[in-house]
Amino acid sequence: MYNPQLHQLVNNCLQKKAIDIAGKDNLFYTRLVANIASIHYLYNELYKNHPQAEKMFINLIESIRNAYLQRPENLKALDVEKGEKGTWFLSNEITGMSLYVDRFCGNLKNLGSRLDYFNKLGVNFLHLMPVMESPAGESDGGYAVSDFRKVDERFGTLEDLQKLQQKMSTEKMYLMIDIVLNHTSHQHEWAVKAKQGDKKYQDYFYMFDDRYIPNQYDAGMPEVFPESAPGNFTWNEESKKWVMTVFNNYQWDLNYTNPVVLVDMLDNIFFYANLGVDILRIDAPAFIWKKMGTTCQNLPQAHTLLRLIKQCVQAATPGMALLGEAIVAPKEIMKYFGTGMYTAKECDFAYNATQMALQWDALATGDTQVMLAAQHELLQKPYGTTWITYTRCHDDIGLGYDDYMIEHAGYNPYQHRKFLKDYYSGTLQDSPATGALFSVNPKTQDARISGSLASLCGLETALKNHDELQVELSVRKILLMQAQSFFIGGVPMLFYGDEAGYTNDYSYLDDAGKSYDNRWMHRPVINWEKNKNIDVQGTVEHRIFCDTQKLIAIRKKLTMLADFKNLTWLSPFNIHVAGFLRTQDATKLYCVFNFSKQVSYLSWAVFKQHGPEATELYDHWQNKTYNVGFDNQHLIIEPYSFCLLEQR
Ligand code: GLC
Repeated sequence: MYNPQLHQLVNNCLQKKAIDIAGKDNLFYTRLVANIASIHYLYNELYKNHPQAEKMFINLIESIRNAYLQRPENLKALDVEKGEKGTWFLSNEITGMSLYVDRFCGNLKNLGSRLDYFNKLGVNFLHLMPVMESPAGESDGGYAVSDFRKVDERFGTLEDLQKLQQKMSTEKMYLMIDIVLNHTSHQHEWAVKAKQGDKKYQDYFYMFDDRYIPNQYDAGMPEVFPESAPGNFTWNEESKKWVMTVFNNYQWDLNYTNPVVLVDMLDNIFFYANLGVDILRIDAPAFIWKKMGTTCQNLPQAHTLLRLIKQCVQAATPGMALLGEAIVAPKEIMKYFGTGMYTAKECDFAYNATQMALQWDALATGDTQVMLAAQHELLQKPYGTTWITYTRCHDDIGLGYDDYMIEHAGYNPYQHRKFLKDYYSGTLQDSPATGALFSVNPKTQDARISGSLASLCGLETALKNHDELQVELSVRKILLMQAQSFFIGGVPMLFYGDEAGYTNDYSYLDDAGKSYDNRWMHRPVINWEKNKNIDVQGTVEHRIFCDTQKLIAIRKKLTMLADFKNLTWLSPFNIHVAGFLRTQDATKLYCVFNFSKQVSYLSWAVFKQHGPEATELYDHWQNKTYNVGFDNQHLIIEPYSFCLLEQR
């Protein structure tokens, strides 16, 4: 709603710097004026009663203005280009890879000289795991940041990062890095000052003299790392205070009820935007607002905060999209795309963590019913937003989908999850998987799963036993898992090493800074000698690399795979087979995935239910054409295989 006072406020703020509102900066001015009422409303929802509310609101507008002023011209031009493309990130031409720079190739400089590797694979989007300064040994893989603007020496310098970004941009590659919004390292300057007793900085965190308030918070808050970091508060001897530390005890939660924290972190967000980041991964957004008596997760104020950030980014640095890393229940994940009048105006991306976990579910059971039971919720994703789709990432696999989805398939939720945990941790006899349980909660028996894609698919065991048949089956499983995540809609994100079949790496056990966290087993150190096998016919690495390459190439070619909410699930004619249809105008692509260790038979009737009946189907995966038969005849799908059938 138009508000003349706000308009004047914006004008005053812009006039202080030479912003040409009627000329070259008009686009920025228009965006800011268009969003200002919304920014003001969202800000007041959170801060109207704060003593510094008015002053900090002006600081917030100045932060937006400064971000725009500091934005390099080439990025401003890219903002326009991306804007003209519409929602650029829905494209079927983007495929990502997430990697630890040091474990992948040493440092940022080396990464710049390895871009041809991604090019060869077809990857044109990189998620660099945190590269900002983080204390060795207390780093949580870089998610405990001690300086948001200084690249950690292990990786190189800020200049190296800038050079890499420029090189990537020249090669038309997209860059994603993290903003760790929820917490800082206890060695961050703010935390250090807070420890020394500086009241201003103590207000940046949640710090208490005794356990009275922490106990009340703890009563409602689940534990994120119950084994390695139980509870949600840590005693700090220096300040003689209890500090809220939801994750590890060295990660201090920032207090966003203080608007100064918001503005300081917004400045950091803009700093990344102006480095040329295309997609900003907002780490752990579910946790950013705390309220006693609640779980302190997914609170409405967390969404308000994210919406506010989105509106500010849209005004100053609109080419940067936002990914909300909310690995929470399916219904809750969906809310990170925005609701009501903010639908598709919060995070542009979220991880399809539900689908990822459901694929692991189907792979273990050979039954796709639980996966199907969840889809009506996942289909609620608003137009204009998209998923990061994946099979593995640096984190564990949580089985956080709803009990009713499991019950719908006729299973008991507790028993079913127990089966999955036993299956993937390898404790179940006959399970080929080699993984481990992560963060077992002794009180609730909750646990998540660690392990690399290849090891969880059985490759580690098969190679150890020199069992060729099992090697074949595990490679098929790897590709089946990847293929479904590549075609289901969203931007696929490979995890480095998976393209060459890396199995678990147990060297983390010898490192005291890592051994308490078994997620390191699936964060490999790349051995470039071994990687040469990707070019050696007959090796597992070659097979997996080439087939992954082929999947990416197929996806890039078929425009119906862009995420335009153009997915319809197929009727479940066979419980072992999950299938969906992707459409664009008259073109149709049927994607069907057999999760069974047996051959599956799928009635041709499946292909006759959506508009004009198909007579011929061309499988892009096997380069083979099928004549569609009678309803009592079948498409035969090999164990752990899939077809990508275009109607002809
Ligand atoms: C996110 C990261 C995870 C980290 C946590 C705390 O969930 O993906 O690796 O431990 O945030 O920052």
